[in-house]
Amino acid sequence: MSTMNFKDVLSLLSIIFILSQNVLYGHSFKPEARGGHMATLVNNKIYFMGWLRPISNNSLVWSQTHQYNLSDEVFYLDLSSRFNIDSPPFTDLSDISRMPFGSEKGSTVLGDSGQRIYLVSGLQQNMATFNYNASDSTLWIYTINSQHWHTSGPGTHGTLLPRRRSTSTIINSKNVIYIFGGRVELDTGSSVLIIYEDLFTFDTNKLEWKNLSLPNHPSKRSHCTATLMPVEELFT
Ligand SMILES: *[C@@H]1O[C@H](CO)[C@@H](O)[C@H](O)[C@H]1NC(C)=O
Ligand SMILES: *[C@@H]1O[C@H](CO)[C@@H](O)[C@H](O)[C@H]1NC(C)=O
Ligand SMILES: *[C@@H]1O[C@H](CO)[C@@H](O)[C@H](O)[C@H]1NC(C)=O
Ligand SMILES: *[C@@H]1O[C@H](CO)[C@@H](O)[C@H](O)[C@H]1NC(C)=O
Repeated sequence: MSTMNFKDVLSLLSIIFILSQNVLYGHSFKPEARGGHMATLVNNKIYFMGWLRPISNNSLVWSQTHQYNLSDEVFYLDLSSRFNIDSPPFTDLSDISRMPFGSEKGSTVLGDSGQRIYLVSGLQQNMATFNYNASDSTLWIYTINSQHWHTSGPGTHGTLLPRRRSTSTIINSKNVIYIFGGRVELDTGSSVLIIYEDLFTFDTNKLEWKNLSLPNHPSKRSHCTATLMPVEELFT
């Protein structure tokens, strides 16, 4: 008959402990370090989407215009209870709700009483060909409950925001999205760099785009943040 010594029992117990921790908290998903991704707070969860990885320059698909392999990942970090920062409770949703393209440098805002994340512009890379401009829509909508992606679809009208990235974007309490500035270059399908100084709005209730031409607007810029003040003034 075999007997277990103290050391065996200890290692068995620690294996059971580690397994039960993983089952209880599902901490097996560890996102890679990243930049250029989008993030939105939805109740107690931060939703993360996209980012950019360099393509190794000895890869066959590497070229001057295709140096990056964008990510179509969607995952969240659950903040509803305390956690150890060595194993943050991330949940990967990519298999069920992958982005429609590889993406980065878009802006995400939460609308519809916290039910939908609006992704405004940003890079859109076809994950098979690595070509940019993967979709015709500058706005994509992620519904939290159904975990589905769609565009604003039929009924959308007005002066559509032209494709761009790195905009300053906020949503107000009336569910109107304000988008200032941004830029286009090679990665947004433009052979020249253009930086914008225009202000667009998208009313998520009326599905209406507007190009607001304001006389005293700030100079052209991209990569700026936007903050909605309590009196509904917009700073970029
Ligand atoms: C692009 O990223 C995906 C996801 O990590 C990976 O499977 C693929 O090999 C990458 N392709 C290149 C060319 O780097
Ligand atoms: C390829 O990448 C390596 C490492 O980053 C770099 O040293 C080298 O200059 C690159 N070669 C070309 C042709 O860009
Ligand atoms: C990408 O989209 C922009 C704006 O819609 C357009 O001007 C450009 O020609 C497109 N580029 C490619 C390579 O499809
Ligand atoms: C938006 O308005 C600005 C200012 O009038 C103008 O320069 C720009 O061309 C307009 N953009 C579109 C897409 O209509």
